[in-house]
Amino acid sequence: MSQLDGVISLAQDTPELAQAYEQAGVLQFHHGKFLIGPLALQAGDHVLDIGAGTGRLAEFAAGLVGPSGRVIGIDPLEYRIAIARLRQSATLSFETGRAEDLSRFDDGAFDAVYLNSVLHWIEDKGQALKEIQRVLKPGGRLGLNVQDPAKPHESRALLRTAIQEAGLGDRRAESHPVLGVGDDDLRRLLTEAGFAEYRSDLRSLVEVHRDADSLLRWSEASAFGNFLGGFSETERAAVRLAFTGLLETKRVADGLRLERYLRFAFARKPNARPGRAARSN
Ligand SMILES: C[S@@+](CC[C@H](N)C(=O)[O-])C[C@H]1O[C@@H](n2cnc3c(N)ncnc32)[C@H](O)[C@@H]1O
Repeated sequence: MSQLDGVISLAQDTPELAQAYEQAGVLQFHHGKFLIGPLALQAGDHVLDIGAGTGRLAEFAAGLVGPSGRVIGIDPLEYRIAIARLRQSATLSFETGRAEDLSRFDDGAFDAVYLNSVLHWIEDKGQALKEIQRVLKPGGRLGLNVQDPAKPHESRALLRTAIQEAGLGDRRAESHPVLGVGDDDLRRLLTEAGFAEYRSDLRSLVEVHRDADSLLRWSEASAFGNFLGGFSETERAAVRLAFTGLLETKRVADGLRLERYLRFAFARKPNARPGRAARSN
């Protein structure tokens, strides 16, 4: 499927983008720690990291579950999994795979599953969440963070203005095709997938980028080739120029200060109902 359709493509990643993500992905790592903190991972837990990227957060999670635990990271992008595998250990492994098809895992295989900045890339969120519910143990925990369409990142809003300034205003929607989800829809999707105890909050995360080039490199790497994907080279150059100018309004002493907004959500697979014998006691 081509990016001209405005649909997210998993076929545009390159070894260079994957390497750039590994270098700059520490930004996602920081908010990833906010995500797995409330999951209260314990020694011996079995954990699935979906959309693990180059594996930095999964490696951190493996430290939390210790030698008796197990962390598996999956991601559809082979170049990212190749880098993640450099982190592999006796208790940490990585495989290529997508959230929508977890058929390689048994029912109830995991104590916790998390998705750090991943759900807004997934088209069939209902299918992915049903699969996650299936592979969780009864009582198992889910944590995720996702872009909320009601509160786009500051950089995204500026990019749309830049597209306009470059004379391509009718194509503003193609800036960066993420599929965010708001609170009500997320609650509904999780409930339909069989989760309970949903809670979520929208958080603001401040980032300081050295300059416009480093922000653009980061945006390209984290969007694995989908950033301005439908534009020609000439159009892209015009947008980048306008974007660089607009970013000057965000300059502080250390660089460019931008806010990103992510909805953090947590839920649980309900515990198994007590059997007939237990109920009659
Ligand atoms: C912004 S990166 C986040 C990577 C990682 N979670 C981290 O914290 O650094 C988004 C990741 O979602 C992955 N992704 C996209 N579509 C996916 C899908 N359908 N199932 C699982 N992962 C997916 C991408 O391949 C990419 O590595």
